[in-house]
Amino acid sequence: MYPIDKLLLDNKDWAAGKVAADPGYFERLSHLQTPEFLWIGCSDSRVPANEITGTQPGEIFVHRNIANLVIHTDVNLLSVLEFAVNHLRVKHVIICGHYGCGGIKAAMNNHDYKQVLNMWLRNIKDVYRLHRPELEAIADPQAREDRLTELNVQEQVLHLAKTSIIQRAWKYEQRPRLHGWVYGLKDGLIKPVFEMNPDAPIDDLYSYDDL
Ligand code: CO
Repeated sequence: MYPIDKLLLDNKDWAAGKVAADPGYFERLSHLQTPEFLWIGCSDSRVPANEITGTQPGEIFVHRNIANLVIHTDVNLLSVLEFAVNHLRVKHVIICGHYGCGGIKAAMNNHDYKQVLNMWLRNIKDVYRLHRPELEAIADPQAREDRLTELNVQEQVLHLAKTSIIQRAWKYEQRPRLHGWVYGLKDGLIKPVFEMNPDAPIDDLYSYDDL
């Protein structure tokens, strides 16, 4: 059997197991999408949002990309954000990075990953440049990489707060709260590193005054 066929077989087992335990499970879920959380995480296969937070289908709306970046020309991410904030009315948006992130490592060296990936990773290099003095004061390469992972999450939360989508929801509905987390591949634990509440100050330059 090919590995791809195993996925489909295991899916049948999983679905049968769910129905055996709770006959109305899928019928109920199919009518219900009211997640309180939007998760913006890394595409890394080792960081599955539901599994590491102990949540079930229906509880978290998920967007993932390499190194959990919020880029203001990314129509995919902005559509997810718009839908989650204004239609699902989520109360929390979580940016979750992870230690040992390949995207962060790649942005810290000088290898040419060819265009598209270079373009994507450049956003992480910009985070490094913004925090260069702090990062270069850290002698241990692993500790420096870990700190960049945390700063990247912080920067992406700030990017969320720069969107009119978030600023409008903050002004009229005092939600959602923004959270920056980093997941540890080695211990399975999530470390909160940054947070912004709806009353958080935003740099004047990025603040809309006619929302
Ligand atoms: Co990653």
